[in-house]
Amino acid sequence: MFYPLVRRLLFTLPPETAHDWSLRLADLAGHEPFRGWVGGAAIEAPVRVMGLTFPNPVGLAAGLDKNADHVTGLGAMGFGFIEVGTVTPRPQPGNPRPRLFRLPQARAIINRMGFNNAGVDHFVEQVRRARYPGVLGLNIGKNFDTPMERAVDDYLYCLERVYPHADYVTVNISSPNTVGLRDLQQGAALDGLLERLKARQAELAEAHGRYVPLVIKVAPDLEDAEIDDMAAAFLRQDVDGVIATNTTITREGVEGLAHAEEQGGLSGAPVRARSTAVLRRFAGVFAGRIPLIAAGGIMSGEDAVEKIEAGARLVQVYTGFIYRGPALVREINETLRARGLPGSHEPG
Ligand SMILES: Cc1cc2nc3c(=O)[nH]c(=O)nc-3n(C[C@H](O)[C@H](O)[C@H](O)COP(=O)(O)O)c2cc1C
Repeated sequence: MFYPLVRRLLFTLPPETAHDWSLRLADLAGHEPFRGWVGGAAIEAPVRVMGLTFPNPVGLAAGLDKNADHVTGLGAMGFGFIEVGTVTPRPQPGNPRPRLFRLPQARAIINRMGFNNAGVDHFVEQVRRARYPGVLGLNIGKNFDTPMERAVDDYLYCLERVYPHADYVTVNISSPNTVGLRDLQQGAALDGLLERLKARQAELAEAHGRYVPLVIKVAPDLEDAEIDDMAAAFLRQDVDGVIATNTTITREGVEGLAHAEEQGGLSGAPVRARSTAVLRRFAGVFAGRIPLIAAGGIMSGEDAVEKIEAGARLVQVYTGFIYRGPALVREINETLRARGLPGSHEPG
C-alpha cells in the first residue's frame, strides 16, 4: 500500500538519486517512531544453513548497501539475512555516472557501478555500529587498479579485516564491472584463490575461536562444462556455500528497450531463468554437499519457490526489492511457508 506510492515518487528521480533516497527512508524505518511501519522485525521461519540459524530464508543481496551504512534500517524490512558490500581494501569512486539504469517494462536494472565504496576500514566501523539481530553477510572484492596477479592479496586483506564481524563472508568473483574479475572463476586461478582463502579462514578461525563460513558468488554466464569444473573445485576446497547468481552480461529479454544497450550487468526478471539453470546445475553436482543461496530475478513468491525447488536453501532479492519494496519479503515468506519450503534439514 505504502511502497507503490513511494516507488512512484522515487522513479521520477534519476536512478542513483532514488537509490540514495530509498536508503535514507530505510534508515528512518529503522528508528522510532517509524520502526514497524514498513516491514517490521524479521518474520519467524528459521532455517539452519552453514551452521547458522537464519530467522527466515529471505535475504537482501549484495550491492544495495555497499558501505554497510544502512544495516539497522534495512534490518527493519523483514529480511532473515542481509548481505552488505562489495567492499574493497581501499576506497574507490566506481565508474563515472550515469551507471545505473531502470528498464521498467522488463522489471529489470542494468548497472555498471564498478564497486564504488568507502573502503574496508569504513565498512568495518559501520558493521560494528549496526544493530541487526538477523544474519549478516559481508561481501568482499578487489580494487579495480590492483593487478589481477595480486587479486588474491586484496581478498585476503578484506577477509582478515571483516572476519571477526561477519556471520558469513562472500567472495565476489562474478561482477561484470571490474575488468578481469570473472577470470578468477576458472582453472588454476580459481583453485589458487580458494586454497589461499580456505587456509586463511582456518588460521582466522583458530585465532578468533569462531568458524565463519566462506561463500562464493558466481556469474550466470557459464557453460555447463564451466559449472562442472567450478563445482568440482568448490567440493575439493571445501567451500561452505555458493550464491547463484550475480548479474548477466547477456541482453536476453530486454532487446529493443531503452537502455538495453548500456554496458554492465542486467538484473531482475530477465535473468531469472538463466540464474535458475545455473543454480540447478550446481545443485545436481553438489547433491546436498554444499548449500546454495539463490539470487537472480526473484520478483514474486512463486519465483522463490522455483529457486528452492531447483536446489536453493535460501534466497536473496535485489531488483525485486527495488520494484516491490518490503511487501516482496513478506510475500516470499508467506508463499514458502504455505508450501512447507525450504524444509528443515541441513544438508551435508
Ligand atoms: C545496482 C546493483 C549493484 C550491485 N552490486 C553488487 C555488488 O556490489 N556485489 C555483488 O556481489 N552483487 C551486486 N549486485 C548483484 C546482486 O546482488 C544480485 O546478485 C543480482 O542483481 C541478481 O539478483 P536480482 O535479479 O534480484 O537483482 C548488484 C546488483 C545491482 C542491480
